[in-house]
Amino acid sequence: MKPILALNAFDVNTATEFGGALGARIKQRAELFGAASVLFYERPLQIVRGEGCWLYDVDGVAYLDAYNNVPSVGHCHPHVVEAASRQMAQLNIHSRYLNQGVMDYARRLLATLPRALSNITFTCTGSESNDLALRLANHYTGGTGVIVTEAAYHGNTARVTEVSPSVLKQGSPPPHVRVIAAPDSYRVPAERVADYFASEVDSAINDLERRGIGFSALLIDSIFSSDGIFADPPGFLTAAIEIVHRANGVFIADEVQPGFGRTGTHFWGFQRQGVQPDIVTMGKPMGNGYPIGAAVTRPEILDAFCRQVGYFNTFAGSPVAAAVGQAVLDVIENEGLMRNALEVGDYLRQRLRELSRRHPAIGDVRGAGLYIGVEMTRASDGSPQAQLATMIINALRDRQVLIGAAGRFGDILKLRPPLCFSVAHADKLVTALDDVLTKLAAVP
Ligand SMILES: Cc1ncc(COP(=O)(O)O)c(C=O)c1O
Repeated sequence: MKPILALNAFDVNTATEFGGALGARIKQRAELFGAASVLFYERPLQIVRGEGCWLYDVDGVAYLDAYNNVPSVGHCHPHVVEAASRQMAQLNIHSRYLNQGVMDYARRLLATLPRALSNITFTCTGSESNDLALRLANHYTGGTGVIVTEAAYHGNTARVTEVSPSVLKQGSPPPHVRVIAAPDSYRVPAERVADYFASEVDSAINDLERRGIGFSALLIDSIFSSDGIFADPPGFLTAAIEIVHRANGVFIADEVQPGFGRTGTHFWGFQRQGVQPDIVTMGKPMGNGYPIGAAVTRPEILDAFCRQVGYFNTFAGSPVAAAVGQAVLDVIENEGLMRNALEVGDYLRQRLRELSRRHPAIGDVRGAGLYIGVEMTRASDGSPQAQLATMIINALRDRQVLIGAAGRFGDILKLRPPLCFSVAHADKLVTALDDVLTKLAAVP
């Protein structure tokens, strides 16, 4: 497996090839941040400004952003910026005071979720949300065993890193973690995906129990983004979740990637699957760039945890976080962004499928709304072409179009733009991809 941080990563060994201001900045960054510094693209970008679906570099060159899901309602959206600055000028404080604005936001967000999930705990990041979710599941079930998919990424705390196999550069997850195959709809026929995935979950639970490790939770990114973007057929998770509940485990839906309307038909990714999570975690698009996250659950699950520990997070659920969160929900509603995600996402997938008829290296086009995977494969046998995917990503970058990579091998082009992406943006992306594929096919 190619570790997630190696996907579309700048190779530090080539740093000396860059001169001028760019070379100096690359060198300075390496000195400051050391081995933990990760940059995108063979030629790193120096972005200084963002607006809508566009990013601008130090020379004023505009890049079409088809990658970033955090500024989900558009880079520097004026309504969000205004809400943050107004609240920042009035009050920003921790959560141990009564504040109506924070409660209004909590109520509005909870209204988008199943009624049974009536308690929200705010955090600052998706990692914190998943860390808390794992602890909630552990206290509620008494078990420690967690099941995740093979290229899953759920965040960066110690506990969450244990359940994020995609970050490991060596070794394997600890014994309480069971890693199962992702529901790969490209390789498993659509009518078998549900049974295939349910049987993976069933075997993992049995294996945990055989080894005396109590089963606690199935933790799933509801669109399997780092595994390679698997959204279809809708409903394929139902059988697996029934097995989880029969085994007295909890189902944690990680909505950090598909949440907040991205899939177009539903506000949350799990809703597209028609399943009921016990805990929902969220982050990234929730604050359009402001660090805000949450774990939402049933009161009895939170109670079991708070009887033994309790939770406080200084920066979480502050008045500014709530003002920003409200502003993001306003924009999603007022600008019809879910509908846009559905319409432009369908249009883009259709155009990409047309492209695949002329470019046999496109093995599969899939996804939901504005979360799209384009799998690059060898036409002869459908095997992954990771190197080709990397070449495409860098060639697009040179044509001022930004995308990323996903999947165990890194052979899947990940298209995940801000939700204000338009048909004109989609056309620009497809034209650039067509050009790149034509030129690459011509290389002997
Ligand atoms: C599915 C998923 N869960 C959780 C996280 C962690 O979120 P954060 O980086 O905000 O801690 C990520 C981040 O990429 C993610 O993709």
